[in-house]
Amino acid sequence: MDTESEFELVSRVIKARRTVRAFTADKVADSDISEVIETAVWAPNHRMTEPWRFYVLRNGGAKRAEVAQLIYDWTVRNTPNPNRKESAAAEARDEFLDAPALIYAYSLPGPNAEITEENYSATSCAVQNLMLSAHAKGLGVGWSTGKACKPAELATLLGADESWKIVGCLFIGYQAPPVVPVVPVRAPAPSVTSWQ
Ligand SMILES: Cc1cc2nc3c(=O)[nH]c(=O)nc-3n(C[C@H](O)[C@H](O)[C@H](O)COP(=O)(O)O)c2cc1C
Repeated sequence: MDTESEFELVSRVIKARRTVRAFTADKVADSDISEVIETAVWAPNHRMTEPWRFYVLRNGGAKRAEVAQLIYDWTVRNTPNPNRKESAAAEARDEFLDAPALIYAYSLPGPNAEITEENYSATSCAVQNLMLSAHAKGLGVGWSTGKACKPAELATLLGADESWKIVGCLFIGYQAPPVVPVVPVRAPAPSVTSWQ
């Protein structure tokens, strides 16, 4: 068998990663979380601002429960259909409570809009690093900018600064069966590339 080249390996991992939001009850080891964050911080970042901050919320931890309540309250307030308020809020809360591991990613602002934007880009790269290395470990990740990121009180509760921009809440765990290979849908690269 031919040895897989480095390009083939990286390309395979990138293309096989999919968003995962349904997990088994299996625990995710703290060491795995630490290792994927370790890969996150090797993302490119202009001016070496290292603008990312991560908050890990342990399953069963007090902080997770406090944030879950914020998400519940936010969802009740923001679900337009009165008949859906409680059920939508309970769904969001329970998904948050049940996720085997959770990481919030924040990006620090810079001294001006340009650097703030660069920092946000860098932190997004960091999240992608994290997702790819998690995938390589057999873990699935769902990047959410939805309900879990919405409560106004979230930053303060986590210990983040109000001025930081939330980049996402990462739901992490082992994908629940049935694991059906999703056919990835992407426009072919040539259709979005102009060679000049
Ligand atoms: C910045 C960002 C925010 C996202 N927010 C959500 C979200 O709130 N809810 C969700 O279900 N997926 C979210 N996703 C995941 C995308 O929907 C997903 O990446 C897309 O459907 C492509 O699927 P794939 O990741 O399996 O390739 C987000 C992805 C990114 C990059």
